[in-house]
Amino acid sequence: MKSTVHPFHIPVDRRRFFRGMALASAGFTLPGFLAEALTVAPTVTQGPYYPLAKNIPLDKDNDLVQLNDSLTIASGVVTYISGRVLDASGNPVPGALVELWHADREGDYLYSTSATRNSACDAAFAGFGQYLTGSDGRYRFRTIKAGLYRGRTRHYHWGVTLPGETKRTTTQTGWNETALDLNGAVWETQNSNDNVFSTVSNATQRATMLLDFSEVAGTTTGEQEATWDYVVGRTYTEPTYPNGGSLVVAGVPVETSAGASRYRIRVPAYAGYSYEVYGNPTFADLGWSALPFSLTQDGAVDRSIHTATAEGSLDLYVDAKAVKGFYQVSFRVPGANTGTP
Ligand SMILES: [Fe+2]
Repeated sequence: MKSTVHPFHIPVDRRRFFRGMALASAGFTLPGFLAEALTVAPTVTQGPYYPLAKNIPLDKDNDLVQLNDSLTIASGVVTYISGRVLDASGNPVPGALVELWHADREGDYLYSTSATRNSACDAAFAGFGQYLTGSDGRYRFRTIKAGLYRGRTRHYHWGVTLPGETKRTTTQTGWNETALDLNGAVWETQNSNDNVFSTVSNATQRATMLLDFSEVAGTTTGEQEATWDYVVGRTYTEPTYPNGGSLVVAGVPVETSAGASRYRIRVPAYAGYSYEVYGNPTFADLGWSALPFSLTQDGAVDRSIHTATAEGSLDLYVDAKAVKGFYQVSFRVPGANTGTP
């Protein structure tokens, strides 16, 4: 069967992206002529709680407050954080993967070393989200006010993977406040003695990490918002991705060792990059319903297996025959979401 290939770029799943929500604060554009005024984001520790790949929620969009279409939302003060990824000259960086993870209202992370997420963490809280910046370099998240846990003041963890990078660079942001625990008592660790913020020696950089939150106009539940631009202090080269990050490709019939029929989808990939298949192979005439796949010919078909290190090409295997003889596959985000080793 002849393979039909069309460029067709689908960014990170925006299925529920801020559905029904007006973003009150859009942030400000920093034009290039203000380049000298930009403060590069300091790199600080990733910390121990970046979720393991097996615990990253399937719903890893930029809304951490609501998982899938759950009727239950996360406990805590709903909080919006938005801004842009900018280079040192103030130009927006498109195609940057911004990741956010942090503790729930009571200070518990999603992170766990077992196959399931930390049972102490609010089950309605995603705990992790991501956003791929568009041409304006902009990202936005809906989450909650991060909870406090012993040894730290309130903070958010960020990972930024620029186009062409294979590893995230991490930083953290805090909340410019006197941190109070859930009983209203002054918390033992404040921004001034927090062991991450206080060790950023450059005072200007440190100030950019401590965000000023304000109440969302018109909120009746105390929702908060802040803007934060991540300014890149390193050089990077935007690579050329095959077919712009997705393709339409024929599946090749293969058999599992048990004799079951399966179809192999081969995605051209660049050696050394880690690929995430986030769009899922789909029947081309059935919209974007996800089609489960495996990354080995004999592997269990399970769409939660979503990362692979590519060495020349990336193979996916699906059980279902494509209705029209080809599948649509979206992929991108090298280096991302491979979890903590
Ligand atoms: Fe943390």
